[in-house]
Amino acid sequence: MTAIERSRTVAVVGAGTMGQGIAQVALLAGHPVLLHDALPERAQDAADAVAGRVERLVAKGRLDRAEADAAVGRLGAASALADLAGAGLVIEAIVEDAGVKRELFTALEAVVPADTLLATNTSSLSVTELAGPLAHPGRFVGLHFFNPAPLLPLVEVVSGFATDPEAAEQAYETMIGWGKTPVRCADTPGFIVNRIARPFYAEAFAVYEEQGADPATIDAVLRESGGFRMGPFELTDLIGQDVNEAVTRSVWESFFRSPKFTPSLAQRRLVQSGRLGRKSGHGWYPYGAEATAPLP
Ligand code: NAI
Repeated sequence: MTAIERSRTVAVVGAGTMGQGIAQVALLAGHPVLLHDALPERAQDAADAVAGRVERLVAKGRLDRAEADAAVGRLGAASALADLAGAGLVIEAIVEDAGVKRELFTALEAVVPADTLLATNTSSLSVTELAGPLAHPGRFVGLHFFNPAPLLPLVEVVSGFATDPEAAEQAYETMIGWGKTPVRCADTPGFIVNRIARPFYAEAFAVYEEQGADPATIDAVLRESGGFRMGPFELTDLIGQDVNEAVTRSVWESFFRSPKFTPSLAQRRLVQSGRLGRKSGHGWYPYGAEATAPLP
């Protein structure tokens, strides 16, 4: 019997943007879900937010009332890590910091049974490195969801150096059961999507830095003629320039600072000046009435 058959409970640690989205997906796939966060009030607030989103699905006619009530009834906030002891699967979506993540997984191992599947939603850290200190690293996988998790079907199922093939298979099958489109991959820096996207952003920023064309032109070319849903400038404004730059830096460091992945100076300037994108009211583009300053 697999861990997820033994206990259908899914624990999500880190109740921010991704944690809430993943919790919603697991909940609507029929699991009891526990949300936990380092900030005590955050887990309950996040559970309330997820319940609110489930309610909105009813209002939009995409979920029936009985299903929504049952889902919300299965959702809980856990104030202590020890409350996750019964989970068959734990998905971590905390801060993108290898030290903090490793500490969390070490603490989790002291709480959950040895077969509980442990997963990280890291965007760019090494699954192998995160599993390093574990006593049972075979059950450790990457489950890389994309934002917004309830809407985007792709999930990268990442096997680290020590991941047991059966654990990766359990994770893969679970994602199928959740209606996702999982793809198996190994633990190379940036996995598939974040790796291949690096040159997409980097070359666009380079064209801008060389005064080849402005962001709006490059975005329009890729969107309207290239078939991309969003151009690289508007997309990084949505993701957050700080988040996007951090992933680039992580991939660059992982490849021993290969020039192929060198971060962009123009993007560095945006981050330094607090122009993080939509979330700060200004990135490559201004957003909102107050953001009227020109591009750097
Ligand atoms: P977020 O900042 O919205 O949420 C992180 C949450 O983790 C916060 O509520 C924070 O209080 C909590 N937290 C921090 N340290 C903790 C600890 N030691 N124990 C328990 N809780 C802790 O971050 P977000 O955007 O949800 O990202 C989470 C993870 O998902 C990161 O690893 C990120 O790289 C990854 N990711 C993010 C995507 C995105 O578009 N935002 C997409 C795919 C992956």
